[in-house]
Amino acid sequence: MFCFLALFIQRIRLPKTSWHLSKTGTDERLKKDQMKKLSMLLLRFLFVFMVVKSASAASQQVLPGEVWRDNRGQQIQAHGGGILHWKGAYYWVGEDRTQSNDPDKRYVACYVSRDLVHWTFRGQVLALADPEHLGPNWVLERPKLFHNPRTGKFVLYFHLDDGHYKLARVGIAVSERIDGNYTYVKSFRPLDQESRDIGQFIDDDGSAYLIFESRPTKGFIIARLSDDYMTVDKQISFIRAPLEGGALVHYNGLYYVLGSHMTGWRPNPNVYATAPLLSGPWTEFKDIAPQKASTYEAQSTMLLKIVGSKETSVIFMGDVWKPRTIWDSRYLWIPVQIGNGELHLPSPHPWLLNVKAGGTTIK
Ligand code: GAL
Repeated sequence: MFCFLALFIQRIRLPKTSWHLSKTGTDERLKKDQMKKLSMLLLRFLFVFMVVKSASAASQQVLPGEVWRDNRGQQIQAHGGGILHWKGAYYWVGEDRTQSNDPDKRYVACYVSRDLVHWTFRGQVLALADPEHLGPNWVLERPKLFHNPRTGKFVLYFHLDDGHYKLARVGIAVSERIDGNYTYVKSFRPLDQESRDIGQFIDDDGSAYLIFESRPTKGFIIARLSDDYMTVDKQISFIRAPLEGGALVHYNGLYYVLGSHMTGWRPNPNVYATAPLLSGPWTEFKDIAPQKASTYEAQSTMLLKIVGSKETSVIFMGDVWKPRTIWDSRYLWIPVQIGNGELHLPSPHPWLLNVKAGGTTIK
């Protein structure tokens, strides 16, 4: 912007003849000419200023459902992912479905950002070969990252399964560094229950929870992680609703839980319920958007709370799955309207976040 300004100021030079001394008609014409030139230049400057300003505003926006590129210009690979807010930055981990990946391995990628718009690739933090003889088409999905304040370790949870989704377990990998190479530790069924889609929740007091779908009991379980986060040690809530893609947020004294119906990769109208305590009682589930919108083709993966100096915003993070070209699946992130027991997902429009103040503006 300053370059443009400098360029134009350089070009706006006053005439060599002094204006107030000019008396003749030629001088008058010269003066008019100069004024005309000056206003033309100013107009051009204003035009360029507006174009540059709107281009830079657009580059600060989140564009729900559009291709989202990282600092390398590559499409972000963090499907079914989660975000950990750590030392002032947001770390996004998710399924890395890059086409050129080794088909026998499963990958988790990690990105970092301070504004939720520009993401820097930090690497494939997990590149795992079949850890439990799960066979062809084995599954590693919906990775979620926790930081344990007691051990200082970063613990990555994910859904681990065979190609038929019969194993229904949780897998764990750990690292000393948030974006380091994670080492596979083990897999288990949390609280001896089948567990498929997982979600994560960190409460305002820092305690960490896993939300998982338990099919035989047709329920959504909220369970607390053990002190070292290496296992799940206590059921906090059992919500009798066959839902997956679990997400939770605590906002203005109420817990909001969110999930999708079980239609595989196909979108459906996601629903939410609220409770004064994590243990319930939970209200009936209601739609987050008009039914026919089908969550604008997305499926929930997380509710991200941004606490700023002035406001608190909650972002719905969803995946727009493209099962045939899974690497091209998109992200639908939209700030929700939330409060007094209501949660509403507005239709997708570009939006801006003011990270410091915590407010969002939908364009
Ligand atoms: C969805 C689930 C995804 C993936 C998919 C496979 O229901 O949320 O994570 O498992 O099924 O069909």
